[in-house]
Amino acid sequence: MKLLEGKVALITGASKGIGRAIALAMADVGADVIATARTEEELQELCEDIRRKGRKAEYIVADLRSTEEAKAMARKALQIFGRVDILVNNAGVSYPQPALETTEDRWDETFQINLKSLFFLTQIIAKAMIEQGGGKIINISSQAGLVGLEDHAAYCATKSGLILLTKVLAIEWGKYKINVNAVAPTIIMTPMAEKAWADVKKREEALKKIPIGRFGQPEDVVGAVIFLASSYADLITGAVLPIDGGYTAQ
Ligand SMILES: NC(=O)c1ccc[n+]([C@@H]2O[C@H](COP(=O)([O-])OP(=O)(O)OC[C@H]3O[C@@H](n4cnc5c(N)ncnc54)[C@H](OP(=O)(O)O)[C@@H]3O)[C@@H](O)[C@H]2O)c1
Repeated sequence: MKLLEGKVALITGASKGIGRAIALAMADVGADVIATARTEEELQELCEDIRRKGRKAEYIVADLRSTEEAKAMARKALQIFGRVDILVNNAGVSYPQPALETTEDRWDETFQINLKSLFFLTQIIAKAMIEQGGGKIINISSQAGLVGLEDHAAYCATKSGLILLTKVLAIEWGKYKINVNAVAPTIIMTPMAEKAWADVKKREEALKKIPIGRFGQPEDVVGAVIFLASSYADLITGAVLPIDGGYTAQ
């Protein structure tokens, strides 16, 4: 029996980066996957890769810049296999800008995707999880939700907000056997990080602050997420697990 055999996992932002790695790894340990993002070709390719592993996989194209689209996506996801046991809130955006130059549209978009759509889609999935008798929700926060990061005012505000949202939901939904936890990765080499850390000097400075001495790869995040989605974590809720090579230990 594989760790997540018989479970259905909905993963947002599954088209690339960390979300894609989580989707593939969850399929490896037995989960069927519903993948969502905006880029249809990438989602199609991911689902084919998962089906080759012998698991079921379907995708939904949805733009989380719209709360209504996020909610419609959640409703659709529940219809695909008739349930969602695991929700991984992974989709997120970062537009590094100095605080004095942060624009209102980038601020709003960051909050919309990283917090507002996330919350309202989670609300829909949680109601179904309550009827099912439980579930696991894993929020992908960031080390930038635990410590301040220059040029990341909106991003840090959303990722720290996500940590307290995780705790509130854990408190409210514990009685329904819904575990809500967060992980807080350091810089993970994905399309997002390649853009955000294009400046070599900034990259070198950030690297010096990671005691383990390297940036992460998407695969570094998947183990913790699978653990939190599994029955081994049934008594863990409201927790935030840094995956940061020691960055926030200092
Ligand atoms: N990489 C890092 O250094 C790092 C560190 C800590 C935490 N994180 C967090 O980890 C998560 C994944 O990051 P990543 O580095 O893998 O990012 P990424 O490579 O940029 O991937 C982001 C994912 O989110 C989706 N997405 C973006 N905008 C969207 C929208 N408007 N509607 C629907 N989906 C959207 C993207 O899909 P489409 O473009 O196809 O829509 C993609 O699948 C994010 O929450 C991020 O904040 C990343």
